[in-house]
Amino acid sequence: MKENIRVMISEETIEQRICEIAKEISADYAGKELYVICILKGSVFYTCDLVKRLTVPTRMDFMKASSYGAGTVSSGTVTIQKDLEESIENKDVLIVEDIIDTGNTLAKLLDLLKERKPASIRTTALLDKPARREVDVTVDYVGFEIEDRFVVGYGLDYDQRYRDLPYIGEVQL
Ligand code: IMP
Ligand code: MG
Repeated sequence: MKENIRVMISEETIEQRICEIAKEISADYAGKELYVICILKGSVFYTCDLVKRLTVPTRMDFMKASSYGAGTVSSGTVTIQKDLEESIENKDVLIVEDIIDTGNTLAKLLDLLKERKPASIRTTALLDKPARREVDVTVDYVGFEIEDRFVVGYGLDYDQRYRDLPYIGEVQL
């Protein structure tokens, strides 16, 4: 059942914006290799669409953190459910997130990964809900700022559903 979704950001708009971000990141990292960390599961779509448009070489790794149960409210505690396969020491790291809400997840990940002595570390998120921020965290490349609404699609889920939508939408309850 996909009928009860209101489209907020269309597939075309997402694609255009990712092209812009990819250009910006490619320029910033010219001459370097980027170690791209996809934060599972929500960032899978964004990571794929982003890396294939980068002109700099990349290596990819995956990490899974969880701060949510089955609900839509952050629990505040972040646990690492899957860690990276390689050391990031002396690498130029880009963390790819789907959405920054309270900022707790990204803040915890940054603290953890900075301890591993990367050459540099930056972050990108397709979506940002600044109104919900609880911790001060820097997102270097933001796709879209959105209002305080719970959104699904393009990797984002509600209780593990709707990740498959090619657009960002809002569930009409
Ligand atoms: P934060 O730690 O509160 O910033 O939450 C970040 C994580 O919460 C994201 O990576 C998402 O998995 C999830 N999340 C936050 N807002 C939404 C939403 O509107 N839809 C789906 N997932 C969300
Ligand atoms: Mg997530």
